[in-house]
Amino acid sequence: MITEFDEIIVSEQQIRTRVSELAAQISADYQGRDPLLVCVLKGAVFFMADIVREITVPCELDFMAVSSYGSATDSSGVVRILKDLDANIEGRNVIIIEDIIDSGLTLSYLRKNLHARNPASVEVCALLTKPSRRKVDIACKYVGFEAPAKFVVGYGLDYREMYRNLRYIAVLPEEDS
Ligand code: IMP
Ligand code: MG
Repeated sequence: MITEFDEIIVSEQQIRTRVSELAAQISADYQGRDPLLVCVLKGAVFFMADIVREITVPCELDFMAVSSYGSATDSSGVVRILKDLDANIEGRNVIIIEDIIDSGLTLSYLRKNLHARNPASVEVCALLTKPSRRKVDIACKYVGFEAPAKFVVGYGLDYREMYRNLRYIAVLPEEDS
């Protein structure tokens, strides 16, 4: 049995509804622009899979894996690319699909890195954001939900690789972290 989480911050139904809304917004904004969705592995994998199936404009998918040095619950801002994109993004309209923006350091690095490859545009779509934890300002056009300044797990988000498969998003109990 896995831990029972009693502090659920986003339910399965809430995720489904919000994903549809974001997909509709993206579909309206990207008509005729054939966006390239870049999923940041592994946390954004379910978010990517769900949102892309509701997007109604032609689009492509690609994947990137990055590791941010730091403790299990805090990133350092020093980011290493573990898996780079397959696609050449020059002239493309890129949407980064990310699980959560915490300090903003990881995304700030990623944005700069992708910008250097001369895409037509780069926007960010994040499932969750913790605004009170931000260390660097980061423009995020599409946001699912605001999360409290606590460590959360589920729907792709992990604590030491566990709990990604929860259907909802919950606060990790203090005794587990
Ligand atoms: P940042 O660089 O501090 O913005 O952290 C970004 C990355 O840290 C995210 O992509 C997540 O992989 C991870 N992260 C930050 N906060 C959480 C959390 O509450 N739960 C799970 N992962 C998190
Ligand atoms: Mg991540």
